Amino acid sequence: MSSKEPVDPFRRQVPTAEDLDDFHRDGYIAFYDAMTDAYREALIEEVLSADPVRSFLDLSDEERSRLDSPTRHFVRPWNDRGPLSDALIDAPLITALLRETVGPDVHFCHSSMNLALRGAERGEFHQDHHHWNHHNPINIAERDRYYIQVLYYPNGFARGDRSLVTIPGSHLVAPTPDITPAGLLSGEFDEQAGRKLQAVDLELPPGSFIYLNARMFHGIQAKPIDSPQAFRIFLIDIFKEEGPPHRFTQEIPRDWLERATPARCKLYEREPFTETCWS
Ligand SMILES: [Fe+2]
Repeated sequence: MSSKEPVDPFRRQVPTAEDLDDFHRDGYIAFYDAMTDAYREALIEEVLSADPVRSFLDLSDEERSRLDSPTRHFVRPWNDRGPLSDALIDAPLITALLRETVGPDVHFCHSSMNLALRGAERGEFHQDHHHWNHHNPINIAERDRYYIQVLYYPNGFARGDRSLVTIPGSHLVAPTPDITPAGLLSGEFDEQAGRKLQAVDLELPPGSFIYLNARMFHGIQAKPIDSPQAFRIFLIDIFKEEGPPHRFTQEIPRDWLERATPARCKLYEREPFTETCWS
């Protein structure tokens, strides 16, 4: 796949009515095996060929054990991305999803990437909408505006092997400070959500992605030491409604702007986060 040609990563270009129902009811949509085979293979090659990733994977077990985080390579903001991963940002399917769920006034917030190796620990249930989560600095004026995460899994994951665990419907529970995942799963908030809240441990084939309202609680399973998959690749693009920055809204690197289409440039036309940006 030549990186000089415009690329459409996905087999589909628009969401269905059922997809949009899933988003509003569950707080996310799962797109299984959504990438074309050629794109998925080329994307994996692009991601793994970046120098910091190669350096991390090339370490011996002994060298890696001396790192602060020996089983995870996490980068935020993920600036070292290439043209194939860039193509995700304004792919027709993503553009249509943002238009149908958030509306026309959407900005790119930031991106990150994460490799998880065997032995990576589980991640607790959490929400990522910064103004919904009381553990973060919050800007109440922005609380009801959408914050969307698109979670890409180019090499997929099996259930119980660094799998994503969701609590469908938990985005409908009000953001009171005393809400806890244990409380959510004990039935305490079922009436408010209008359903039985329970955890769903997902399994996604390679090339899948999750389009997520970041108010929904989710967690991550550990990666077993004997997992048949050496590492799980996880790429995240985050979008926000037009308005002030969120906590991680990133500076856009000059080389991103140089290779962006006019439509993608428009997604980048917002201010990055600074300590004083809400005052
Ligand atoms: Fe998260």
